[in-house]
Amino acid sequence: MGANDPVQQTPAKAGQSTLRCQTGFGNEFASEALPGALPVGQNSPQRVELGLYAEQLSGTAFTAPRAQNRRSWLYRIRPSAQHPPFSRIDNGLLRTGPFDEVDAPPNQLRWDPPGLPAAPTDFVQGLMTLAGNGDAGAGAGIAIHLYAANRDMTDRYFFNSDGEMLLVPQQGTLRLCTELGVLEVAPREIAVIPRGLRFRVELPRGPARGYVCENYGAHFRLPELGPIGANGLANARDFEVPVAAFEEREVTLELVTKFAGNLWACALDHSPLDVVAWHGNLVPYKYDLARFNTIGSISYDHCDPSIFTVLTSPTDTAGTANCDFVIFPPRWMVAERTFRPPWYHRNLMSEFMGLVEGVYDAKEEGFVPGGASLHNCMSAHGPDAATFEKASAMDLQPQRYEATLAFMFESRNVLKPTRFALEGGLLQQDYHACWQGLQRHFGRPA
Ligand SMILES: [Fe+2]
Repeated sequence: MGANDPVQQTPAKAGQSTLRCQTGFGNEFASEALPGALPVGQNSPQRVELGLYAEQLSGTAFTAPRAQNRRSWLYRIRPSAQHPPFSRIDNGLLRTGPFDEVDAPPNQLRWDPPGLPAAPTDFVQGLMTLAGNGDAGAGAGIAIHLYAANRDMTDRYFFNSDGEMLLVPQQGTLRLCTELGVLEVAPREIAVIPRGLRFRVELPRGPARGYVCENYGAHFRLPELGPIGANGLANARDFEVPVAAFEEREVTLELVTKFAGNLWACALDHSPLDVVAWHGNLVPYKYDLARFNTIGSISYDHCDPSIFTVLTSPTDTAGTANCDFVIFPPRWMVAERTFRPPWYHRNLMSEFMGLVEGVYDAKEEGFVPGGASLHNCMSAHGPDAATFEKASAMDLQPQRYEATLAFMFESRNVLKPTRFALEGGLLQQDYHACWQGLQRHFGRPA
């Protein structure tokens, strides 16, 4: 399709991006910023129209099964290979698996939100790793970062060679200028940037803060729906993908990559966002979490929280995720004769939680927007004492949970905190106290 052709577009609400987009999940997209730039009927003509170079970016092995295979063809002003050698730069607070800086404690952990930076700090400089598991080099596991930034990346570009990045903004909008086009993502939305895709981040509405799940493992995808049927949870048609847009800048720039756990940089004499046309299914995408079709009990008890899974990165063990991205959005609670907050539990899977806005239904205080908690494998947790007492006595009328959005990165392997997570000043020292007030009720009639 050409730059001026109509494209599918979903209606935007106030404050949301009105950038043109294509829609779908995992399908074949195609876009050209100049008419005729996209080859027809083949990927690699002897001479590409407009003097462009053809380049394939693959996100899976060439021979990955068709349903999982991800790759895109890029038609660009200069090939990506044209750069000088990279040199190491400081990693700041970025860390990469394997995570072995400090001993992982078996305790429940909770953090205050990071403050916004005082000094000029862009998105990459503002990344702080809290925890992770697996091994980036082995292609398994995740890292969980916070970000806090107050400066646009203007002459600085980034790509992550270690994994794809799931962005969960909590404050401020991120304008993601990528090789395949521009996406804007605001709080209550998410975006995913594929491994290797070059991009820079602008902050069009001021300072920004949020969460990142860096996924070393299998691509995030939509979960199977089983007996739910053909529709529900996050529907494929609600995912948004950019249209081609290119920069033609011939100035000195910095290109940064995260490779094998370290940051490296080189100088470029042109923008790497010079892709005039592209097609394929390896794409950056965004999703408005308000579109999530939330499903829950309409009789008694809770479903397991897996019913709230938006995206999943599977492993070779069926149903045992490298990472599930799960949300707790505004919803109705109608379960009868039921303790309505989450039950007390100890799980095999390790649970990292963040809060975009509002109050989470298991914790009345202490877990605040921009903050985080971590309940690792077999770490016992559940509602705090105040929430337990209130929920045990409440009148079970249908109840609307408004203006709340918590989320979870849930992983099969223990999420080991970084030294920054334990010693950087954000860790709450008294989190365990929220359960100490729970009273013994043994012998009391139900
Ligand atoms: Fe939990």
